[in-house]
Amino acid sequence: MGVTVSITNQKGGVGKTTITFNTAIGLAEQGYKILAIDNDPQGNLTSAFLEQPENLSADIFSIYSDETVIPIQIQENLFFIGATISLSRISESDFDLVFKLKEYLEGIKQNYDYILIDCLPSFGYLNLSALNASDYVVIPVKPAPFALRGLKDLFDTIKKTQKRLNPTLKIAGIVLNLLEKTVLHGDIQKVLQEEYGDYIFNISLSKGVKFEESPAFNESIFKYAPQSKQTQQFNQFLREFLVRIAL
Ligand SMILES: Nc1ncnc2c1ncn2[C@@H]1O[C@H](COP(=O)(O)OP(=O)(O)OP(=O)(O)O)[C@@H](O)[C@H]1O
Ligand SMILES: [Mg+2]
Repeated sequence: MGVTVSITNQKGGVGKTTITFNTAIGLAEQGYKILAIDNDPQGNLTSAFLEQPENLSADIFSIYSDETVIPIQIQENLFFIGATISLSRISESDFDLVFKLKEYLEGIKQNYDYILIDCLPSFGYLNLSALNASDYVVIPVKPAPFALRGLKDLFDTIKKTQKRLNPTLKIAGIVLNLLEKTVLHGDIQKVLQEEYGDYIFNISLSKGVKFEESPAFNESIFKYAPQSKQTQQFNQFLREFLVRIAL
């Protein structure tokens, strides 16, 4: 049975898409069967996977509209359902929305090892839908002065989701991303570690331009910069991911 993991944080620009993209490709290359899902009307993950995102043939919009969707094969072991701006039209229309992705995945989960959902930066229905459909969340956090407050709000939302919708939802961990060697980042890292302890992944991902460049070429960090520090860190992240979210 596949394990569903949402990569989520209501804060924008913390690395949700970057981490989903590279985790999907990295795990597929290790032989795990992966379904990656873009649940964000911005369609950033879709642009990272597809050279021509406008020709998307498996659109998550269809799942929310009760139509059939057959995931696109990207490479061996890697399948994908994308999103376009059309998703924003339905995003807050109907509470029923919150159950549709879960119901869709129940029918196809057994075909995959990991299902990875790239979430949008919001607390709305689309995000609840992803949390409702998931077994785990991974939370990327960018060290910034308000990160702690944002995390508290997110943990509250997760608690409410566990109580009302999805009692088996678990937090796999918090991964610090875009880390820089500054005093401020060092201090924030320390505070987060004190506050969240074992939730924090041992590995942090540094800020590095290769993470920004690679998706523009539809390439993972592994292919774009195989010898880089970023690739080394990301491989360590994947090892920890597989321990925290064992099949
Ligand atoms: N470790 C990193 N080093 C350098 N740039 C990074 C890193 N992680 C992410 N980025 C860049 O930061 C920006 C935001 O990352 P990304 O799009 O993955 O965040 P997000 O959380 O998905 O954003 P949104 O909330 O808008 O969906 C992108 O331009 C991305 O390329
Ligand atoms: Mg994103």
